Amino acid sequence: MTYDTILVLNFGGQYCHLIARQIRRFKVRSEIVPYDTPSTKIGSVSPNHSIKGIVLSGGPDSVYRKGALVCDRKILEMGIPVLGICYGHQLIAYLEGGTVLPGEKGEYGITTVNVERPVGILKGLGGDQEVWMSHGDTVQSIPDGFQVLASSENCPVAAFMDREKSNFGLQWHPEVIHTRNGEQMLRNFVFEVCDCRPNWVMSDFVERATNEIRKEVGNSRCIIALSGGVDSSTATLLSQRAIGKNLTAVYVDHGLMRLGETESVREFFSRLEMDFLVVDCGERFLKRLEALRDPEEKRIAIGQEFVHVFEEVATEKKADFLVQGTIYPDRIESGQEGQADRIKSHHNVAGMPTKLKFKKVIEPLRDLYKDEVREIARELGLPREIVWRQPFPGPGLAVRIMGQVTQDKIEVLKNADRIVTEEIENSGVNKKLWQYFAVLLDTMTTGVKGDSRAYGHVVAIRAVESREAMTASFARIPFDILEKISTRITNELPQVVRVVYDITHKPPSTIEWE
Ligand code: XMP
Repeated sequence: MTYDTILVLNFGGQYCHLIARQIRRFKVRSEIVPYDTPSTKIGSVSPNHSIKGIVLSGGPDSVYRKGALVCDRKILEMGIPVLGICYGHQLIAYLEGGTVLPGEKGEYGITTVNVERPVGILKGLGGDQEVWMSHGDTVQSIPDGFQVLASSENCPVAAFMDREKSNFGLQWHPEVIHTRNGEQMLRNFVFEVCDCRPNWVMSDFVERATNEIRKEVGNSRCIIALSGGVDSSTATLLSQRAIGKNLTAVYVDHGLMRLGETESVREFFSRLEMDFLVVDCGERFLKRLEALRDPEEKRIAIGQEFVHVFEEVATEKKADFLVQGTIYPDRIESGQEGQADRIKSHHNVAGMPTKLKFKKVIEPLRDLYKDEVREIARELGLPREIVWRQPFPGPGLAVRIMGQVTQDKIEVLKNADRIVTEEIENSGVNKKLWQYFAVLLDTMTTGVKGDSRAYGHVVAIRAVESREAMTASFARIPFDILEKISTRITNELPQVVRVVYDITHKPPSTIEWE
């Protein structure tokens, strides 16, 4: 099967994944590639695809800056339609001989543009359109042979078309939810301009992926680190379908999971025909953490201990292949690691480093976004609590217990977290939330319980809205729900005398407290 594909050239905009994900929702394959991918390589970016369109993403650069990020100019002349968005729009104009200058006034936020020529990407969208803009530079004049399609008060060339080549530019961001008809604009590009077939369907994926795993692995043994999250659980199920008993799934129970989590993973996976191991290491991890207070030291210690346990099992099982639940954003983001500051040492079980030499690492989900993984997970029959499991850090509750980790604190936090989860889910507000959980502080505080002085722990509640966890806003949870949580925690947990609510966004905070 050949998949019609739209390539997104990444100029460093924050919205690259939004563009690619939106196109995938139309059941058309799309892939993000570096901005300087040579035109000669465009045809061989990935197997089984036919490139039907190219998007030049937005980005923070200025096209007239010396050394600005520029794509291979020949990409505009390959006969494949190109859509430039924001920086991409300015770049097409600049490379083809138009003028781009700093605008007198930038445009940031929702703006009205007037679509004078509703054709191509703007088909059916004439007149005033509400769009989302974020730009300082502006295309002042278009190259020969171009036509202006839309303009706004501060932007004479808000959209253009190159008639001969079917190249388009939009100064605004169609991929952002605030552009009212943004989805239709991208649909027009994908189907009207590029003539793509919508054949990227998840129902084919299971068969394709299992065949691929079977072909790679043959009769050898495979091992996978199963965390119980949706990615590693889905990768486990696919591999189990492919190779059955030759798969060993290892769930390292570090004793820092939420209440009932290990049991639900055990319940589901022990029924499958494969070698499934729960390695009970609670004491081992606790001992390793005993003397540590610093968050980074805790994260690193847990990561290292995890790898030791996994290596012990892998050596015993004589596995030749390692399966990982790496998904598409993990892969793209790790390709650009050099550009980002390390905020925390993320210990991600799916991206686990291991010194073991495997014949090959197999990543069946490497091309999928989280929502696509969830679709596959549902199709494979994973239970709801795994399909919709909140993101949970590899080091588990250790990074939600400030400072020293002890068994007593783990117990308090597990129960406080259960109460937060129950109340938020019972109220229904969870549908809008990215994550919601409890944190145990290392401060002791005075209170009064009954008629006596009490001296005990502080629990913080963290609940955030987010799209991809890169940024997040604290959730405006109604006070009566917070009150219920606070009352239950202080009533049901004698060790806790105070409950606080975290009202910081990310940035400047991170979602997790450590
Ligand atoms: P922060 O705290 O950096 O978290 O805002 C962003 C997202 O990542 C999750 N997180 C982790 N995930 N291993 C993981 O697999 C980790 O070590 C880790 N630390 C944080 C966090 O829950 C949030 O969704």
